[in-house]
Amino acid sequence: MTDKIYPIGQLPKIGEIPELMYAATLRKNKYGEPKKAFTIEKVPVPVIGKNEVLIAVMAAGVNYDGVWAALGKPVDIIKQNQRKGYKEEYQICGSDASGIVWKIGEKVTNVKIGDEVVISCGVWNINAKDFSKSKTPMESNSSGIWGYDTNYGSFAQFSLVKDFQCYSKPKHLSWEESSAYMLTGATAYRQLMGFSPNIVSKNTPVLIWGGAGGLGSMAIQITAALKGKPIAVVSSKEKEEYCKKIGAIGTINRKKYSHWGRLPNINNEIEMNKWTISAKKILSEFQTILKDNLRPMIVFEHSGEDTIPTSVFMCGTGGMIVICGGTSGYNADVDLRYLWVKQKRLQGSHFANPSDCEGINHLVKEKKIKPMISKIYKFNEIGVAHQKLKDNKNHPGQMTIQVGSKK
Ligand SMILES: NC(=O)c1ccc[n+]([C@@H]2O[C@H](COP(=O)([O-])OP(=O)(O)OC[C@H]3O[C@@H](n4cnc5c(N)ncnc54)[C@H](OP(=O)(O)O)[C@@H]3O)[C@@H](O)[C@H]2O)c1
Repeated sequence: MTDKIYPIGQLPKIGEIPELMYAATLRKNKYGEPKKAFTIEKVPVPVIGKNEVLIAVMAAGVNYDGVWAALGKPVDIIKQNQRKGYKEEYQICGSDASGIVWKIGEKVTNVKIGDEVVISCGVWNINAKDFSKSKTPMESNSSGIWGYDTNYGSFAQFSLVKDFQCYSKPKHLSWEESSAYMLTGATAYRQLMGFSPNIVSKNTPVLIWGGAGGLGSMAIQITAALKGKPIAVVSSKEKEEYCKKIGAIGTINRKKYSHWGRLPNINNEIEMNKWTISAKKILSEFQTILKDNLRPMIVFEHSGEDTIPTSVFMCGTGGMIVICGGTSGYNADVDLRYLWVKQKRLQGSHFANPSDCEGINHLVKEKKIKPMISKIYKFNEIGVAHQKLKDNKNHPGQMTIQVGSKK
């Protein structure tokens, strides 16, 4: 341990650990709009436990959980994490990273110092009573998201991870490219492949909301790689072009429609009819693109309140609406008649299990999926990048932050 601190972009000799590091922190008194919430400060480098690994972060992907954390809503994560035993008054977010293994705990056997890795954000307690590695660790009550439900995420020079979070970095990718696919890629992979029998196979029609976003870009590429038929919904011409470029067989511009949000009062026949006509139009646009009168058998959801009523309406008989987020709100209406009569499944999903992480890493290594980086930001622009995400002003693809990779 040395008391030196290194500038962003400079690493000590491999294995040498400075006492302090630069980190982008959140503190309770700064919760609010992301552009103002993150502060760069010097903090101690975390101490690792027996099954933990210290990572020198080379690049850190930007994801929506940093937005929620900065806002302090819907969860005050500093309070939540202190309740779990963290002593720090600050939170270091960041749930995606590429980096170098810098130190390993005494029980770690799967990686060694110097290994180049990408980090999966799924964390759980392997000693929890309900934990089962062979089944679905994300369904253990001990599971959470590194950098959100735990401190010492990737927006710092060093990060603290469990050994099982480390996956080998695809050799053909840059640090920045490899820093920004695991969270969205594995989440999308589980949504599309984790809930049998509703999984993507040849010709499965899939409706993907937010096709040009982090999750959507991955969902399009995964569906295409598995020979399904991805059709994306987006909000601009630029995003339509982008989705087609990465494998969508067609796109729908949601700006043409206005029936979003909560359903009208079910007893108001005129309003309900207006709603249904609009929902039928979007279904018809979907079927025109598909050149078939089939409905989507998987609806890839994360937009939430604005879109769930349409998702439930459009989904095919026996199909699945699979949701992992609520960007537009959580108070979504479901017309239960569509759900039960056509035996549809409304399935929740949260990040991914190790098999999903391996699945996405394999597709990336095989070059069947290309991480799409929209912009590389500097370390002092972490707040700006999250603000873009919150305001839906980011360019198609995924944003990332240079940390150790800064030239
Ligand atoms: N549970 C999990 O494990 C997990 C993992 C990853 C992400 N998430 C959640 O999933 C959500 C999306 O994440 P992301 O990384 O893909 O974000 P992103 O890159 O910002 O993409 C989201 C996309 O959603 C679309 N969108 C925004 N508001 C919408 C609305 N009112 N109606 C329809 N579409 C809308 C936007 O596309 P257009 O404007 O082009 O339509 C945007 O590109 C976030 O809420 C995030 O917290 C959850």
